[in-house]
Amino acid sequence: MISESEGELYVLYVEPTRKYQGIGTLLLDAVTQELKELGADVQWVSVAKGNQMGIPFYESLGFRFYEEKKAYASLEDEDRVALRYKRSI
Ligand SMILES: CC(C)(COP(=O)(O)OP(=O)(O)OC[C@H]1O[C@@H](n2cnc3c(N)ncnc32)[C@H](O)[C@@H]1OP(=O)(O)O)[C@@H](O)C(=O)NCCC(=O)NCCS
Repeated sequence: MISESEGELYVLYVEPTRKYQGIGTLLLDAVTQELKELGADVQWVSVAKGNQMGIPFYESLGFRFYEEKKAYASLEDEDRVALRYKRSI
């Protein structure tokens, strides 16, 4: 939870040989359910800029682009960029 009514998911990885089998959706559904129980009605996700696996996945599940920011957990001298997307839940 990042506020009383909003939660954020920072990373989500599926074993490469098991992609496109619905597992990412099931994992996201489980996190979403947990956030709802904690009182969230908005869900955020972070995804690396240029990640052509993650971005279409989240967009297909109703997330819309909101902003760019310095990547979570990147070091002082790194300039990796994350994109933040959000949806209502
Ligand atoms: C992103 C990721 C978690 C998706 O997991 P997955 O188990 O393959 O996804 P699903 O099988 O549940 O797919 C869900 C939907 O997204 C779509 N989708 C998934 N990956 C896609 C891609 N690369 N391009 C277009 N659509 C995609 C699927 O078509 C499906 O839509 P549908 O139900 O309408 O057919 C997985 O590709 C992954 O681990 N990628 C590397 C890490 C990453 O990018 N994580 C996200 C940012 S941290």
